[in-house]
Amino acid sequence: MVGLGTNLIHGDDSLSRVPDVVQPINVSTTYRYDDDPDKLRIAAERGDEIIGVPYYSRLSHPNSEKVEQLLQEAVFGNDKHVIIYNSGLSAFFAALTFLNPKVLAIGKGYHGCHGIANIFTRLTHLKQISLEDDFNQLSKGDVIHLETPVNPEGTAFDINYFANEAHKRGAYLIVDATFAPPPLQDPFLHGADIVMHSATKYFGGHSDLLAGALITKNLNWKEKLVSDRLLLGTNIANLESFFLLRSLRTYELRILKQSSNAENLVKYLFENINQYKILSNIYHSSLQNEQFVKDQLTGGHSPTFSILLTDEKLARILPSKLKYFHHATSLGGVESLIEWRAMSDTEISTKLLRVSVGIENIADLINDFHQALKSLENIETV
Ligand SMILES: Cc1ncc(COP(=O)(O)O)c(C=O)c1O
Repeated sequence: MVGLGTNLIHGDDSLSRVPDVVQPINVSTTYRYDDDPDKLRIAAERGDEIIGVPYYSRLSHPNSEKVEQLLQEAVFGNDKHVIIYNSGLSAFFAALTFLNPKVLAIGKGYHGCHGIANIFTRLTHLKQISLEDDFNQLSKGDVIHLETPVNPEGTAFDINYFANEAHKRGAYLIVDATFAPPPLQDPFLHGADIVMHSATKYFGGHSDLLAGALITKNLNWKEKLVSDRLLLGTNIANLESFFLLRSLRTYELRILKQSSNAENLVKYLFENINQYKILSNIYHSSLQNEQFVKDQLTGGHSPTFSILLTDEKLARILPSKLKYFHHATSLGGVESLIEWRAMSDTEISTKLLRVSVGIENIADLINDFHQALKSLENIETV
């Protein structure tokens, strides 16, 4: 079997249309039909054969095809089908549009996904329940949406448990696995029906593109999702898919380094928490002891975690004291970020900071946190 790193470089070679080693930026929105008149078919006869041959970029284009093939071949496996979108939220919107549940059980997690669910409630009277509610309210065709590891904490939930709860009622399980893409975890092994990713994060990895992906084992679902995507206009753009292809070449190196950096930084902070007067808690799956966490995160923990400080004022100031963590939203890039999360999430504690760990030298990241936490110890809080 070919290794991930090799596959990420060569898994899309068969789709190369030119000899260029680097896939060219491809800006055409339209593609010439076959020169041979005998091969031309009217739309009604072409039927659902809309996957594969690019003819209009809202449907697909050479670089979006390459991204899908590469993610399928190298990252998710050829028993899966990948549908790429122009953002993570477009992917979630597409999944809900396609499954069209009457009841959606949705847990904590990215506030934007709750925003999308609220649009469905407005348009279709979708009933929303939480993951703690009675799942007997779910019936055939309904959906449980689970984010694991969850944003912003980076703690994990038991996928098998939620898959069973969904399946015994004929409902489906969507797992938003943005925080721990393969090879860190594979939600399909634990019963997910659809896996979604904000590819803006680790797959993109350079904070310079927006993209999303849905992954399913069901080819028929892929065909329907691609038909919907054509009408919704949510295919990934030309330039973004060029950048995403570039990013995927180094994906294995980045995700493994980011994951081990995060685990080391969390370990350091956890073991030294008594040394830092202003640090009151650390959240991350590497600090969880449940067996399912070990079973799920077999390839490593999420490169994103959260800390809780003793006071809101300190949480506001800490980012400005760090040298190697930009104060910015988002996650997954090679550069470390920290965010006073209350600036973008109305539901979150004002003492919480989310940390996205990059690929910098781990000793530098630890030293940076040490000096920043120490520098705030004598700040007055009321
Ligand atoms: C867990 C999770 N899901 C989905 C999204 C949405 O992705 P995008 O910003 O690519 O639309 C985000 C964005 O932060 C996220 O963290």
